Amino acid sequence: MKRSSGSSLKIPVMSTISNKPQTLLALNWKMNKTPTEAAAWAKRLQEEMPETGTALAVMVGAITLSQVASEMYGSTAFLGAQDISPHESGAYTGETSAVQLKDVGVKYVIVGHSERREYHGESDATVAAKAKKALEHGIVPIVCVGEKLEIREAGSHVAFTLESLKNSLAGVEIASAADLVIAYEPVWAIGTGKTATAADAEEMASAIRGSLEQLYPAFASQIVIQYGGSVKPDNIQEICGQPNVNGALVGGAALVLESVFGMLEALK
Ligand code: PGA
Repeated sequence: MKRSSGSSLKIPVMSTISNKPQTLLALNWKMNKTPTEAAAWAKRLQEEMPETGTALAVMVGAITLSQVASEMYGSTAFLGAQDISPHESGAYTGETSAVQLKDVGVKYVIVGHSERREYHGESDATVAAKAKKALEHGIVPIVCVGEKLEIREAGSHVAFTLESLKNSLAGVEIASAADLVIAYEPVWAIGTGKTATAADAEEMASAIRGSLEQLYPAFASQIVIQYGGSVKPDNIQEICGQPNVNGALVGGAALVLESVFGMLEALK
């Protein structure tokens, strides 16, 4: 990755072997790893990262961003953050601004993760505001949506998720397919070991693609749609092999480098 490059957001979105966008594996460390641990992890990643056709983004805690950026300097992996303030700057105690993230070389930011929606009361409108602020500063938002168990059991998961997607993208404008990533993360599958089946992931990814076709007709076919929820080396290939699934947002299995390499290998 390049530090503080301020360069454009362009990443290769076309795979050479098919018309799918390039697969994006995003590693969501959540509130894990000290700066010291993160630096050691990133140093090993830089030294041992295998050849891969998969784009890799490491979404780390704000306090570890600088160390990870230094250790990954020159690597092909991208730096990512887990949250962003919807405000530009000023009196917002505890928040991290887009300008601050950009300055350390952040390329991607997760917005609207279900843990932020659940524990920090984030609404779709807040998520849209964060996505807009990221884009204003050349950071690609990974916009997360997904239903809770009771909604799936009631059979309204597609309608619920598409409504949340539409509201989370209200007023969000993009200039290319590479400016936006959507992550479908069914809440019941996060950190529980319960993975949605590949068919479940494809059902929702294809419905999301349909919504994107209405919102961004020129770019929809090439926007990366990820699945997230208990993804690991054993199941990533089948899930990401679905026609409308272009990658994964991974929590638990993202913490140990061997399992990250296992996922990259499975995606080959
Ligand atoms: P998990 O988390 O892989 O541990 O289920 C995924 C996420 O929350 O992004």
